[in-house]
Amino acid sequence: MIIKRYYLLFTLALVWSCKNQPEIPKKTQKHGLITQKAMVVSAREEASKIGSAILEQGGNAFDAMVATELALAVSFPYAGNIGGGGFMVYRLQNGETGALDYREKAPMAATKDMYLDSLGNVIPNKSIVGAMAVGVPGTVAGVFEAHNRFGMLPIETILKPVIALAETGVVVTKQQAERLAYFQKAFAAVNPKGTVLDGLWQENDTIKYPALANTLKAIMSNGRNEFYKGETAKKLAAFIQEQGGIITEEDLARYEAQWRKPVSFNYDDLTIISMSPPSSGGIALGQIMKMIEPYNLSEYGHNSLQAIQVITEAERRAYADRSFYLGDPDFVHVPTDSLISAPYLSRRMADFSFEKATKSTDVMHGSVEIIESNETTHYAIIDQFGNAISVTTTLNHGYGSKLFSQELGFFLNNEMDDFSSKPGVPNAFGLLGAEANSILSEKRMLSSMTPTIVEKNGKLLMSVGTPGGSTIITSVLQTILNVHEFGMTMQEAVDAPRFHHQWYPDYIRMEPGVFKDQLKAELKAKGYTINEENAPVLGKVDGILVLDSGALEGGADYRGDDTAIGF
Ligand code: DON
Repeated sequence: MIIKRYYLLFTLALVWSCKNQPEIPKKTQKHGLITQKAMVVSAREEASKIGSAILEQGGNAFDAMVATELALAVSFPYAGNIGGGGFMVYRLQNGETGALDYREKAPMAATKDMYLDSLGNVIPNKSIVGAMAVGVPGTVAGVFEAHNRFGMLPIETILKPVIALAETGVVVTKQQAERLAYFQKAFAAVNPKGTVLDGLWQENDTIKYPALANTLKAIMSNGRNEFYKGETAKKLAAFIQEQGGIITEEDLARYEAQWRKPVSFNYDDLTIISMSPPSSGGIALGQIMKMIEPYNLSEYGHNSLQAIQVITEAERRAYADRSFYLGDPDFVHVPTDSLISAPYLSRRMADFSFEKATKSTDVMHGSVEIIESNETTHYAIIDQFGNAISVTTTLNHGYGSKLFSQELGFFLNNEMDDFSSKPGVPNAFGLLGAEANSILSEKRMLSSMTPTIVEKNGKLLMSVGTPGGSTIITSVLQTILNVHEFGMTMQEAVDAPRFHHQWYPDYIRMEPGVFKDQLKAELKAKGYTINEENAPVLGKVDGILVLDSGALEGGADYRGDDTAIGF
């Protein structure tokens, strides 16, 4: 009896201590870079360095955003871009939060059936490869919008080091060399005039980007309108049309980034602030977290059978809702508050049982009262003033549509594939969509990007996010839980093995070779299907954690070339 009581006290103490992270990492814990004032964590060392240097010169997180985003366009053309789009969530030093949507848009000439043949079947690859796959890019509008509202340093100060990087060139990493070898065929198939990345690149070679440097110089001199209304716009629209696309100068001229109200919800003593539609990230993350909140995850244990069951079942239900309800809020009514309300989500989990897996065929979207009223990159920045931003930006797949303008020096996205080309037909991420995410002229395609900021008891705790298509939401979820429920450091939380369920296909994707055989057998016995083949990498999470001491700990994903730099 006494022993039992002590055991209970000990367990409670353990649970309590986990939920009271983050302290300064214990000696036994692996931790990422720790700095006292400011930090940038991104997919490439070059980009983190330029962002951090801008902070050291007295710039704030928004200046560093412009620098990091554009430096990623140079150093990480796989996903960093000016030919794509993204989302930013911010929290100012005074606690004010907000979000910026610079997601691509469908061109004006886009139509609902543009990817269907005369029999109504989806034409393979039309929304994925080449000029027809391209959405109107938003990145340049996004960074200038953020800079106009919050920036402190002149745009020249920010762009000069980025342009210098494009001119002096970027050293090829081992991962990049492998990627480039793999993508040569795909580049050749789309670009008769070639791309800057053609050739046999080896690790430690240097690639220079002179055409991109010139485009960035024109943008530095003439501002964001150079890209949307100037010479660059004319050349870009002409190039896309030459290649068989439908984006016009008018499409570019009409593009605007939009400020949005982020999705915000509580989980224990945390407040999560994440991206609102047209990203599904914030709502889906909110749904999953509110569905699992009543369960005692820290008691079940990290990646334990019960924890995986609860999380999987919540994910299954959230992705079913995503598919039905979510789309561009400028075109469809998204019932955000109802979808993340606790009573609705508790009804949603009412049929969950630890005994047996729910089948996705038995799960439809829930019913809420509607009251009328394959490659991305993420970076996190906290500045020396206490402002935090979380940004995910993308061309969609690796090198987007593969379409590359030799004259302008950059790849164009294939974000049109994030629309639902036809109800019931999955997109390249296996996601199903409905009317809410159908294609319409000038509509934004639904995203899974989940740039997220976490507060604890009203104070900044974390900036976090990741690429990974449909798996983004669940990787962000697990990283937050790893810190909050399981007492991990930021780096451990990022490194920990991840799994994912998205309603359809009805299996749990697991990082291969890292989950125990016995655990997998137990899950199978309960009716779950496990797929380790389809998931070589689930996300590349980058995050920054504010420690109790006020110092910052970076978490840079070992799965990529991600690097934390700060001071
Ligand atoms: O917006 C989205 O959800 C997708 N276009 C993101 C693509 C992505 O993360 C690819 N990375 N692996």
